[in-house]
Amino acid sequence: MTETVLITGCSSGIGQETARAFLQDGWEVYATARNPADVESLGEAGANIASLDVTDGDDVERVVERIIDEEGRVDCLVNNAGYAQLGPVEDVPVESVEDQFAVNVFGPHRLTREVLPHMRERRTGTIVNVSSVAGRLATPGMGIYNGSKFAVEGISDALRPEVSEFGIDVVLVEPGPVDTAFVERANDEIDGLERSDAYDSLYSILDDSEAIGGGGPGAVQPREVAETILDAANLTDPADRYPVGQVAKVAMLGRFVPARLRDKFYRLAFSLVTKVS
Ligand SMILES: NC(=O)c1ccc[n+]([C@@H]2O[C@H](COP(=O)([O-])OP(=O)(O)OC[C@H]3O[C@@H](n4cnc5c(N)ncnc54)[C@H](OP(=O)(O)O)[C@@H]3O)[C@@H](O)[C@H]2O)c1
Repeated sequence: MTETVLITGCSSGIGQETARAFLQDGWEVYATARNPADVESLGEAGANIASLDVTDGDDVERVVERIIDEEGRVDCLVNNAGYAQLGPVEDVPVESVEDQFAVNVFGPHRLTREVLPHMRERRTGTIVNVSSVAGRLATPGMGIYNGSKFAVEGISDALRPEVSEFGIDVVLVEPGPVDTAFVERANDEIDGLERSDAYDSLYSILDDSEAIGGGGPGAVQPREVAETILDAANLTDPADRYPVGQVAKVAMLGRFVPARLRDKFYRLAFSLVTKVS
């Protein structure tokens, strides 16, 4: 019997490539986006398309109900929708922090709660949460995004042993930089900040797109992340987490460096940037 996957944030980047990868592998794909016009090409390629804003409880309920009506099952949920609210912690207004967590944390939680009863009933399923290297290692200028992805990691690590007895797997996919529209959205968020004049050296790093990920050096193509997600969904016993790309694998090692040393390294980097600029 054909397996069914629900994917969020399919209008571009990793979500779009993931929908294509699952389609090519013969899955019944529900590709969702805030604006359904953005997933029309996936519809033409054979996906079922639906509008879904992950911050809207009614949207989430409607889409999961539809899948259960039409397919009777959700075998895999891919929580992919997300963006990065960058900026020095002091300069990010509380409302923007709330928006960041609404999309990156409460959205996946809402979807997870909606699909779990169906997965438990059938005693099978996989939930893939697209996290980031930023969910393992915090860096200045990314505190709010770090906080949201650290939360996704913590919730996933707690959920995995809670649901394993029902035959459900929980997987974290942790890319480093990926060549998508992610950086443009992150730049918009930085541009929208009211800048205090206390963090000029940090802003000079944040204003350099390549330094914040996206298509810079070491970036992987979204297809590589999509294939990692598909492989995890197809395994009967997937790993708990999959870093994607060399940058992610190397940067993860930074977790083992004592915080005092990491802080010194960041301060040195800022003073060098200030001297150069
Ligand atoms: N690119 C990277 O360097 C990188 C690295 C590590 C992790 N990630 C993670 O990978 C995931 C996908 O990002 P991407 O690189 O593919 O960036 P992207 O091309 O900007 O795609 C992000 C997707 O999330 C969607 N989205 C945003 N807010 C939403 C909401 N409220 N409801 C539903 N969808 C929403 C966007 O839809 P709209 O078009 O409607 O805004 C878009 O489809 C994110 O969780 C991101 O944190 C990315």
